Amino acid sequence: MNTLPSEIRLYDLHPSDADIRSDVLEGLARRPKQLPSKYFYDARGSELFECICEQPEYYLTRAEIALMRTHAAAIGAALGPHALLLEYGSGSGTKTGLLLEHLPEVAAYVPVEISRSALTESVARLSERFADIQMLPVCADFTQPITLPQPARRPARTVIYFPGSTIGNFSADQAVQLLTQMRRAMGRNGAALIGVDLVKSPQRIEAAYNDAAGVTAEFTLNLLTRLNRELGANFDLGAFRHRARYHPERERIETYIISRCEQQVRVGGHRVHFAAGEAMRVELSCKYSPASFAHIATRADLSVSDLWTDAEGLFSVQCLRPAGAPG
Ligand code: TRP
Repeated sequence: MNTLPSEIRLYDLHPSDADIRSDVLEGLARRPKQLPSKYFYDARGSELFECICEQPEYYLTRAEIALMRTHAAAIGAALGPHALLLEYGSGSGTKTGLLLEHLPEVAAYVPVEISRSALTESVARLSERFADIQMLPVCADFTQPITLPQPARRPARTVIYFPGSTIGNFSADQAVQLLTQMRRAMGRNGAALIGVDLVKSPQRIEAAYNDAAGVTAEFTLNLLTRLNRELGANFDLGAFRHRARYHPERERIETYIISRCEQQVRVGGHRVHFAAGEAMRVELSCKYSPASFAHIATRADLSVSDLWTDAEGLFSVQCLRPAGAPG
């Protein structure tokens, strides 16, 4: 595993075992049961997620990278020089590299990522390639209030980067809340650059979340392995399975873990009952049209100043600025 260069210090605000336990028990007490998707990303989960991104059915990552390759210069010019680049859920940092190449005179890069291993590895790699950019990695859940480290150079603006259609993993109301938090963090002359997956045929979307090689299934079930290890739970992995279904009326795909039989599981000192066929929701991935995403932005007092798509029109990257801000 990569370690950080000595001059880079990790701000470690990773959720504690107690946070994970209370989030999980709260989700399991709901009807229908839910598990919080942010806990997918332990070291193994982050590795499996990178593998999902390489599956032939998972069009999102390829489309977003192609889009960034084609439009990076225009994106960099739209965002402007001397920015503090604040990234939420930075993952492997592949797209970040494409952005950093085209952002003029970046003041500092602050990635916020819940997976300590993904964060360390990506910053080790990026700091080698962009030796002049100060990197201030923060291991944290970006939905929680965090005090960010201060850069050495004073930035002219704050640019928030939120790629990968992670915004789709929040309900519309939660997305508005998160975008509102971003608007406050970016200030009057800042911007947010957001990767948004677009509505398309249900078959294409369902295939992306049910890859034939079974990597997505392994990724979702790895959450149970993590709970077994970190909360002393006793989920039997053979007694659960993965399922993802697109709901056209809600324009979102929902991922579930299904109990194959009636069973009891011990989780964090509680006994949890599952009926045969009972579904726990573990993720939702909302798909947007340009109009429906513009509406979400408006609700957060932001407006879409630019929108780029890949050549096939599968995926979009959108620049949001405070409503009423100049250009
Ligand atoms: N942000 C990704 C998405 O919504 C996360 C993701 C991809 C995911 N495949 C998944 C989450 C399968 C849970 C299950 O596309």
